[in-house]
Amino acid sequence: MITRLLEVFFIFLPAFVGNALPVVAKNIPGIRRFSRPISPTWLGRNKTYRGLIAGVLGGMLCGIILTALVHSGFLLQWVRFDSFYRDFWNGIFFGFLLSFGALIGDMIKSFAKRRVGKKPGAMFQPWDGIDYILATIIVMLPFIFLSWVEIIFLLLIGPLLSLTCNTIAYSIGWKDCWY
Ligand code: CTP
Ligand code: MG
Repeated sequence: MITRLLEVFFIFLPAFVGNALPVVAKNIPGIRRFSRPISPTWLGRNKTYRGLIAGVLGGMLCGIILTALVHSGFLLQWVRFDSFYRDFWNGIFFGFLLSFGALIGDMIKSFAKRRVGKKPGAMFQPWDGIDYILATIIVMLPFIFLSWVEIIFLLLIGPLLSLTCNTIAYSIGWKDCWY
């Protein structure tokens, strides 16, 4: 049970990375200026190409690292991967799918948030926390069978990890709000 939840956590890791990286990218000098909003009217000024590209590249890198860890036998101590992170391209594929899915979910949330009149950055819970993980669960449906326990596990650790990252980013001055 715990082993399987750990396995689900590792399989979904590129989604957590993809969701956290836009805030990191925003604070890296040099790429800060690529801050063109994707659509100020529909998504708001906080959804940028910089965030989308950083998140997807980071997710793909995470997929490659997971593949390397699986192959070095490191993760296999706890986790049996059969169809995920099998080889380089498989790692890139799931890294891309999970992080892109996460960021699309985040953008769908922003779209809905603008429609109900919430300003970019305003609190919109619980959607701010579950947007990305809900979207990744949906894009992964064709590839993985998840029990209800595993889905609930993801819906709990998704917002929890997101909130942890945001609080850390806030405390070091990278983000204007803690949520
Ligand atoms: N971000 C970005 N590009 C994205 C997603 C996020 O640049 N595609 C950056 C923005 O600086 C954003 C921060 O990551 O402020 C945190 O993202 P999030 O909390 O998801 O967005 P909000 O600022 O709350 O904006 P919204 O109200 O649209 O959700
Ligand atoms: Mg978000």
